Amino acid sequence: MRETQAIIERISRLNEHYQRLHLSVENYLKDVKPGQSLLARLTDRWDPYLRELWWPVAAANSGLTVERPGSQRYEPGQSVSLLGPVGQPFRYRRTLRNVLLIAYDTAPTPLVMSVDWLLSNHISVTLVLAGKAALYPTQRLPPEVEVLHADESLSWPNRVMTVGWADQVFVAVGQDDEMGRFGQIWTLFKELRAEIPKAYLFGVFQPAQPCGVGACQACLVPMRGHHNSLVCTEGPALDLTQVMLA
Ligand code: FES
Repeated sequence: MRETQAIIERISRLNEHYQRLHLSVENYLKDVKPGQSLLARLTDRWDPYLRELWWPVAAANSGLTVERPGSQRYEPGQSVSLLGPVGQPFRYRRTLRNVLLIAYDTAPTPLVMSVDWLLSNHISVTLVLAGKAALYPTQRLPPEVEVLHADESLSWPNRVMTVGWADQVFVAVGQDDEMGRFGQIWTLFKELRAEIPKAYLFGVFQPAQPCGVGACQACLVPMRGHHNSLVCTEGPALDLTQVMLA
């Protein structure tokens, strides 16, 4: 992981809740993979807070695009200090036909970069938006993605079928109670499937990450078998069959 400076070249609004920043970055960051993130800090003002976790949604020769909440103010020309890439790429199975992505009370932003990669490898993608994720504007997603909306009881159209067909599932949840929401998802999948195999259902964790390199232990997640995982080095996607959920 390295530190580098990026420039905000362009800003595009998706709706009042979300915006995208188009960044010029050094070449090595254009190789960022789905699942990896960046620790960012604007450099034109003093900032006493931790670096923010920025999720790339697209990488191209022209630069990197990240998605940010619409409430944050940015200006073209601003410079940003980036540390990254942080974390491991999503670990897809070798034989994969259908992937289910779920965003529950959070934006699906950590999952968005995987959509193009999966589609370009002829893997079908279903995206379920639950709770606050319903505010997410889906018009920029490729038309091949099946987008479904869940109700408050986490029910969505053809739920049994989408869960049954999925070869792998990646879930992002609201950060105010990640463990609680992952626990709800786990309970739901236990009801819908006879068995949850290993490497099938992944939680995409988004804790605050002060160092991003495994040095501070702030992003530790308790796992079964009396060991812990660090989200910044082993995550962000952790196999929920291995996570010690409440
Ligand atoms: S952020 Fe410091 S150990 Fe993960």
